[in-house]
Amino acid sequence: MSEPKRIAVTGAAGQICYSMLFRIANGDIYGPNQPVSLQLLEITPALGLLEAVKMELDDCAFPLLHEVICTDDPKVALKDVDAALFVGAKPRGPGMERKDLISDNGKIFSALGQTLNEVGNPDCKVVVVGNPANTNAYILKANAPKMNPRNITALTRLDHNRAISQLAEKTDSRIGDIKKMVIWGNHSTTQVPDITWASVAGKSAPDLVDTAWAHDTFIPTVAKRGAAVIDARGSSSAASAANGVVDHMASWVQGTPDGDWVSMAVPSDGSYGIEEGLIYSFPVTCKNGDYTIISDLEVSDAIREKMLASQTELNEERETVKDLLS
Ligand code: NAD
Ligand code: LMR
Repeated sequence: MSEPKRIAVTGAAGQICYSMLFRIANGDIYGPNQPVSLQLLEITPALGLLEAVKMELDDCAFPLLHEVICTDDPKVALKDVDAALFVGAKPRGPGMERKDLISDNGKIFSALGQTLNEVGNPDCKVVVVGNPANTNAYILKANAPKMNPRNITALTRLDHNRAISQLAEKTDSRIGDIKKMVIWGNHSTTQVPDITWASVAGKSAPDLVDTAWAHDTFIPTVAKRGAAVIDARGSSSAASAANGVVDHMASWVQGTPDGDWVSMAVPSDGSYGIEEGLIYSFPVTCKNGDYTIISDLEVSDAIREKMLASQTELNEERETVKDLLS
């Protein structure tokens, strides 16, 4: 077997990680033949709980799990990792928008960006989950100039999966029959779930549903699903978020299947007129551990208007954290 891949996870004693770590240790990101080591970061008061998580990881006797390090020192957690999953941050409660978390959570990402810059492997693959995820990823990127900026990404795969699920239900079809879903923009209520290129068992999705449903029901349902989960369970999505992170990383590392793509928030390359460097969700294909933005889709005027509104929101969020962009 090959050398273990080292994966840093922050907020490792929190809700999302309680679902996610066991999936990673089972090989769900790097596949069934690749050992992994976990470098788990928590704040000092949560170290006891983190030790309990480690006990349960040990008790699963995962054949692929090589080592588990628990620490409150970011330099230890982020050193030489192949992947870093930045989950640790405050979640929102009922009635809040994700961007209301910026003032508390932004500081976490400037500090961790600086540490990653100091001790990280420059080609490490990063996904930011803590909200507001796109802007936190932007802060982290700005504070980590030695890192490969292409590899600083944020999670919109949960939104992508939510969109697939809604379309499957509407068309009474199977999840596996749905291809080419798109989430554009920010992981917020301005995101743009888009079925324009989606297919259902080979048939064009826009031919199967009416335009009014796609615009007036599908888009807001997906965009507001996080708040609906908070209202239903009293705290934010955890198992589905964990699954989204595993899917995001597994696609990036292992590739996307022919004839399909996934949504990832990545630094814009200027495609679709979105400002270069902004962390924006695009459809991408993945191959050989890298991703490619699908840059040649013809976007309708209605979708384009929404895409620009999401860009405007990201610009506004960035303005509020300008002091953290060293
Ligand atoms: P949680 O409160 O259960 O866990 C967060 C953990 O992070 C806690 O254990 C806390 O001690 C730890 N933490 C706080 N500051 C830290 C720091 N500086 N370094 C290391 N650890 C730190 O929250 P959760 O439900 O796991 O959610 C975590 C974040 O993920 C929230 O911001 C939430 O809004 C976000 N989220 C994002 C998505 C997405 O799709 N992008 C989905 C769900 C949740
Ligand atoms: C989600 O989409 O479920 C998460 O971002 C949590 C939230 O605050 O909505």
